[in-house]
Amino acid sequence: MTTPEKDDTPSNRLPEGKIPQLRVMPGAPDANIYGDVFGGWIMAQVDIAGSLPATRRANGRVATIAVNSFLFKNPVFVGDLLSFYADIVKVGNTSVTVYVEVYAERNRLQSNIVKVTEATLTYVATGPDRKPRQLPPLESLIHHQQQ
Ligand SMILES: CC(C)(COP(=O)(O)OP(=O)(O)OC[C@H]1O[C@@H](n2cnc3c(N)ncnc32)[C@H](O)[C@@H]1OP(=O)(O)O)[C@@H](O)C(=O)NCCC(=O)NCCS
Repeated sequence: MTTPEKDDTPSNRLPEGKIPQLRVMPGAPDANIYGDVFGGWIMAQVDIAGSLPATRRANGRVATIAVNSFLFKNPVFVGDLLSFYADIVKVGNTSVTVYVEVYAERNRLQSNIVKVTEATLTYVATGPDRKPRQLPPLESLIHHQQQ
């Protein structure tokens, strides 16, 4: 599996030339009693973001079979604007593995951007019977250029 290069350098920019799969802002119900956002809430959003390119590659439904790695590098606060980037890093017979990175824009008027999370998840294409289904050939996908 090729994992994209990891870069924790503080920056005031989001990754260039990439489109987030998801942008979302956690609110008060997503926080613990200390005001930081629950890890479980972030994991749910990461699962959704990762499933989007996997679903497109599978041209249909997928199920999450594994969370291979998950790193909460920096805390997330209520009001951070989160951007979720997801790239396919491995494709098997029925499975698609996706690397997800999450960036938080804090104090947005000051362009303060922090990488908060990275994770790798594997999804399996499934049929109507919920059993694994062979991935379709890449050439058969009309939208194969958009991840
Ligand atoms: C997804 C599911 C249908 C797969 O069925 P399965 O019989 O367990 O799958 P298989 O053993 O045939 O493996 C299917 C693929 O997953 C891969 N896989 C299996 N275990 C894996 C693991 N621990 N990590 C990464 N990939 C894994 C296999 O290598 C295979 O990939 P390939 O076909 O590309 O080579 C089944 O496990 C399931 O329904 N799980 C619950 C899914 C779910 O509800 N997820 C939401 C969270 S609760």
